Amino acid sequence: MTERRLRTQVGIIGAGPAGLLLAQLLARQGIESVIVENRSREYVEARIRAGVLEHQTVQLLTDAGVGDRLHREGLRHDGVYLQWPGERHHIDFPGLCGRSVWVYGQTEVVKDLIAARVEAALPLHFDVADTALVDVESDRPQIRFTSADGEATVLECDLVAGCDGFHGISRPAIPEQLRTTWERVYPFAWLGILAQVAPSTDELIYAWHPDGFAMHSMRSPSVSRLYLQVDPTERIEDWSDDRIWSQLQHRMGLDGWTLNAGPVLDKGITPMRSFVSAPMRHGNLFLAGDAAHIVPPTGAKGLNLAAADVKVLAEAIVARTQEGRTDLLDAYSDTALRRVWRATHFSWWMTSMMHVNPHGDAFDRQLQLSQLRYVTSSTAAATGLAENYTGMPFE
Ligand code: FAD
Ligand code: DHB
Repeated sequence: MTERRLRTQVGIIGAGPAGLLLAQLLARQGIESVIVENRSREYVEARIRAGVLEHQTVQLLTDAGVGDRLHREGLRHDGVYLQWPGERHHIDFPGLCGRSVWVYGQTEVVKDLIAARVEAALPLHFDVADTALVDVESDRPQIRFTSADGEATVLECDLVAGCDGFHGISRPAIPEQLRTTWERVYPFAWLGILAQVAPSTDELIYAWHPDGFAMHSMRSPSVSRLYLQVDPTERIEDWSDDRIWSQLQHRMGLDGWTLNAGPVLDKGITPMRSFVSAPMRHGNLFLAGDAAHIVPPTGAKGLNLAAADVKVLAEAIVARTQEGRTDLLDAYSDTALRRVWRATHFSWWMTSMMHVNPHGDAFDRQLQLSQLRYVTSSTAAATGLAENYTGMPFE
């Protein structure tokens, strides 16, 4: 059988936020790339995940030329509410650190990036199979794949960006003895729903409750997104819409406040873990986003970290291509990992403060309540939360 041979500067595996944004940033600098994605466009555009963009992620998307709809339809939020039974407190981000966040779904970010790529007629292969990496240590690494029309394809690159998420092939392409990993699996999961109902709040509510964490987020003035802490062994089939709404009401209820219920459009259960793999480079293979690290969703950092990685990587690739400098590429893994560890700590801290540990006791719960009272009453403590939640400045 004949092989089709293609050539590009940067081969990108994965059309999630990391791969798509990297391709967009490179295209703006005149650097060619090819993206290969094993799912369909419809699937990738419908996958419901994160919803909060840091101030700098918004800036990055705007600078990349994909901020128009985000600025029209995104919702700027100047804070969040932290709650425990009987009390709800507002954390004022601009007052504490001068920054805000934006509520705009990951699905919308992905749709905007795909639309830009398609409109510019740049290569983006959906529905590929058998993706494999060859010779990543050499200066001619290859991505091999079978295209949607069944053609065996060899894509020869100057370098490869592994943006294929936690279950992709890129991280395992780094020999195991060269990798160090750190992991924490949490003894709880998030049950998330998307509901056709106006949000019952102007900003996100993070609620601690002795029966488990609950959260109220949103996607638009008519669509709400809500989460419940559940045991990781729970099955979604056992959670009727009525059961979900009644638990949300129970855990988030507050005198004088009503939670509006509505038709559930989507529901699912996500396990929670922290995971970091280092280094994020091997030869001419560079990992970005969930391919290298996972955070629990409580700090809303996953998508933002993926964006921060590719900002650093794109600048390093541009420096090598346009100026022949390799220092930024050589520093990529260390630079990215410093931010990754900050977000890993913050996400772990938010998760530990807000969730009830099924193996914990009354002492743990008193410590959580004390921490919540401290964060909502001390400017110093609240500033730490605000700085991290809105995103630490890029180095
Ligand atoms: P991904 O979005 O995972 O993209 C990787 C892409 O690579 C995918 O399109 C995949 O199909 C493709 N791919 C994989 N293997 C191959 C292969 N072999 N060949 C070709 N393509 C391949 N973060 C939050 O902040 N808040 C949330 O509420 C939240 N909820 C989440 C819910 C779920 C179920 C998951 C999985 C993640 C959630 N996250 C959340 C995290 C956030 O969505 C991720 O951090 C973000 O998607 C990372 O982007 P990425 O591009 O690195 O990876
Ligand atoms: C959303 C998800 C998060 O993980 C979070 O911390 C805040 C909001 C969301 O899906 O809207």
